[in-house]
Amino acid sequence: MSRSSVEVVALIGAEKPESGQEGTLLHSLAVSASMIAFGRSLALNEDAVSLLGFGGLLHDIGKMALSPKLLERSGPLDTAEFALIRKHPELGHEMLRQIEDIPKAVLDVCLYHHERFDGSGYPYGLVGAEIPEVARIAAICDVYDALTTIRPYKTAWSPREAIDAMLRSTGQFDPVLLDAFVSWIVRHDVTQ
Ligand SMILES: [Fe+2]
Repeated sequence: MSRSSVEVVALIGAEKPESGQEGTLLHSLAVSASMIAFGRSLALNEDAVSLLGFGGLLHDIGKMALSPKLLERSGPLDTAEFALIRKHPELGHEMLRQIEDIPKAVLDVCLYHHERFDGSGYPYGLVGAEIPEVARIAAICDVYDALTTIRPYKTAWSPREAIDAMLRSTGQFDPVLLDAFVSWIVRHDVTQ
């Protein structure tokens, strides 16, 4: 195992249930799995697919720097709390940058997964192809998992409800990738 892999395993290992970050860990595993499967459906090569999986696993690692109470809150957040949560891509990027040989794709997924195709995302408000493709893929898989999973503040939506909401969310996602994602979900019949 390379040094970077060992350091990453140590980071993930720190996310023990008692840390209060179990929700983030489960979400990261689910996003990683769907990025791998979606990447394969796009006929990406296996090296690129591995990087997607690696990036998905670590995309929210910056949340480890935030209070679990803040992350699991069911009530509305105030402006300061919301601003703190929006820092997690940069916090995670800073953590991952310390790891020797960390692939650029993994850093890009972490830093840019909350950017939106129309420029309304964060932290930088990048537009369209300014957002690395790996992060545009991550954004879709991230939101799909968040919508279809039960959270303290919401019930789990069905795959059909999640897809309908994502298709209505004009401008948030890369339209070509979103079309491919929807086709992939439908092909696998998970909306039935
Ligand atoms: Fe995130």
